[in-house]
Amino acid sequence: MREWLDFAALELFFTRNTLFTPLHGVGKNDAIGRYGSLMHPALAPFTFARGPHTVKNRCVLAAMTNKQSHDDGCLSKEEIRWLEMRAEGGFGIVTTAAANVSKNGKGWDGEFGVWSDEHIPGLTTLASGISDFGSIGFVQLFHGGMRAPETITGVQPVSASENGGRGMNGTVSRALRDEEIEAIILDFAMAAARCERAGFQGVELHGAHGYLIAQFLGSKTNRRTDKWGGSLAHRWRFLQSIISTVREHTSDDFIVGLRLSPVLESAGFDIVNALETVEMCANMELDFIHVSCWDIDETAEYEGDVRPYTEWFSHVLNGRMPLFSTGMIWNAEDAEKAVNQGADFVGVGRVGIAHPNWPWYLQKDMEEPQRPPFSTNHLTEAGLSPAFINYMRAWDGFVS
Ligand SMILES: Cc1cc2nc3c(=O)[nH]c(=O)nc-3n(C[C@H](O)[C@H](O)[C@H](O)COP(=O)(O)O)c2cc1C
Repeated sequence: MREWLDFAALELFFTRNTLFTPLHGVGKNDAIGRYGSLMHPALAPFTFARGPHTVKNRCVLAAMTNKQSHDDGCLSKEEIRWLEMRAEGGFGIVTTAAANVSKNGKGWDGEFGVWSDEHIPGLTTLASGISDFGSIGFVQLFHGGMRAPETITGVQPVSASENGGRGMNGTVSRALRDEEIEAIILDFAMAAARCERAGFQGVELHGAHGYLIAQFLGSKTNRRTDKWGGSLAHRWRFLQSIISTVREHTSDDFIVGLRLSPVLESAGFDIVNALETVEMCANMELDFIHVSCWDIDETAEYEGDVRPYTEWFSHVLNGRMPLFSTGMIWNAEDAEKAVNQGADFVGVGRVGIAHPNWPWYLQKDMEEPQRPPFSTNHLTEAGLSPAFINYMRAWDGFVS
């Protein structure tokens, strides 16, 4: 178990976060409690080697699609406000929703884009809104690939190979040509450069959940016989080229991380593939890996042993770069469990939607954050527009 830090760092956290009334007037002594004279490990600051950028705590708002932005990919004031409120609420890192790097990589309505300079003014407003509250902002970059439907983009979806199946409504993707692959790699790099120009501290490449990067990594979705397909080392080439091209188009201070799924059965990507990918990435100029567990209690068998995903990722990374982990973390105990599994940063999704000031609940003797279902009033006060609340109705039992 990792050593916890003293309350000096917690004080730093408090002094920078004064909006939410519960934080007012919290002094040094009040910070001692649930953890004796020690603070919750997710409230300790962290300094990235790159920059160096110091984050005031290890609480991460994970990327969450919220369908609030404009058809042309420009950020709406509602999307900006909901993210700013999480910075104001004390998250050390605020990650945006998945944003498409190519015009035709758009996965759903209301998604914001980073494929044009026209998007920079909105991105700039968001980046400065997040920084003004002392948080670090990352944009999550993605291309939907076979999950960028023709009904949204007007063109046939593309992927590593011709793929159909779940979520494609009977349609089939077209295999990308070599020059198109190179163009999308450049799109990732140009998008990252726009994010840096707008004032974001970094980006998270979305290699999880079955979108284009994951489609290249998976043996079922990537059946190519050229240099982009075959063994994992070849299927990884697309991701590898994205990482190195993003690096070439951004400054040495710009943080670049990667989100991965530990297992994606439908794509043909298993835990061994995931950990081999982590190993290959550990030798690149990446600054963090984010394992998207969906549930941090989920386990996998590797090297004849069964352990939670986060433990395996941490085992392979072996301290070479920080590890973020997300999935079913609701309260301080859950967050502590993720840290004990080897996470350096604790990511949250749904609890951060309902509780903009979630890090506050990690303090001593706090009550538990309320659990779903949430009323529309509660969610409106938490900064969700009607469109976002409506989208959350699709998440079982979240909205009452
Ligand atoms: C409304 C919603 C939208 C999401 N959108 C994204 C997304 O754009 N990119 C992504 O990587 N994950 C996305 N996720 C997954 C979350 O980042 C997170 O991994 C997941 O919700 C599990 O964490 P939780 O149990 O704390 O909610 C989304 C989750 C929710 C609930």
